[in-house]
Amino acid sequence: DKGGWPSFMAKEVTEQPDAVANTIRGRIVDGVVDVPELTAFGDEALSAIRRVIIIGCGTAAYAGLVAKYAIENWAGVPVEVELSHEFRYRDPVISDDTLIVSISQSGETMDTLMAVKYAREAGARTLSICNTQGATIPRESDAAIYTHAGPEVAVASTKAFVAQITALYLFGLHLARVRGSLSADQIGEQLAELEAIPAKLSSVLGVGESIRTLAHWMSDTRSVLFLGRHVGYPVAMEGALKLKELAYIHAEGFAAGELKHGPIALIEPGQPVFVIVPSPRHSALLHAKVVSNIQEIRARGARVIAIAEEGDVAVLPFADEVIRIPLAAPLFEPILAVVPLQLFAMELSTAKGLDVDQPRNLAKSVTVE
Ligand code: M6R
Repeated sequence: DKGGWPSFMAKEVTEQPDAVANTIRGRIVDGVVDVPELTAFGDEALSAIRRVIIIGCGTAAYAGLVAKYAIENWAGVPVEVELSHEFRYRDPVISDDTLIVSISQSGETMDTLMAVKYAREAGARTLSICNTQGATIPRESDAAIYTHAGPEVAVASTKAFVAQITALYLFGLHLARVRGSLSADQIGEQLAELEAIPAKLSSVLGVGESIRTLAHWMSDTRSVLFLGRHVGYPVAMEGALKLKELAYIHAEGFAAGELKHGPIALIEPGQPVFVIVPSPRHSALLHAKVVSNIQEIRARGARVIAIAEEGDVAVLPFADEVIRIPLAAPLFEPILAVVPLQLFAMELSTAKGLDVDQPRNLAKSVTVE
């Protein structure tokens, strides 16, 4: 039931504040992070983990890439992120102090299932992040943390993405507590940031109207680029994936630092480029680098749409459009910055008269390798 919305996707995008709140519920008790599902491993085994490999496909893999920055920062454990199908077929080095974290909304993606089975046979411990109770991948794993985003019907993944990042962040903070890599106060600060996200998501959904205008205006665009740095990089790739699958437009996400290593050659007058701008309050350097990237592409005629936090005026002279997101700590910005990109893809698909929920050639759950 679309609940009065024009599409399941429109409904699911607006359910994101609840998806995050429901995924947090019961996992922070009296200000302490405690993910009960992780007791399956025991604190000793969790402390002994030397390496985390996150596997997934599509949007799930991008949630993993976002979480890599956070888990390494908080828990001090090296984290690699790999597409399930690449991992499975390359003889990866796996030992019993490796934890494989698979991410799958459906829990039925064959590429990810095969990778999990392979990792288990090779002696790794396996944790599944899944949105579907009783699905195959969590059943085949040593432990599962369910995201509580509710059923996701639209082929394009939205609320599952923010719920996956939430679950991975809870996992990262639980790991940091068990390993003693952060103090209780430091963990408390991050948990407070996480608990503030649902309200901020509700506020960022207010950009819908201006995104609709932008999408209408861009409905005959043939190519869109997305740039981001640090945690903004996977957000850029997710924005591009949404646009490809929903609006059938050529779209690519780049790490902003890569521009001068090739992609800047693509910039010609009128080329639309979304840029995810990191907060200047936390890293002036990172922010300055992205602003300088914006200047470089603008000088070559790009049409810049900046996603920037409230009050960041440094982008104003160089951006054609600025879409505002609420203030958040850097590691939490992706959960907010992705929303305008989801809405943009949805509105562009609608503007082109396409089927938002059921894009051509795609299935919600990819159960073949
Ligand atoms: O069910 P899964 O999370 O394992 O699905 C993984 C991908 O197939 C999925 O995220 C796909 O990329 C989406 N259609 C993206 O919107």
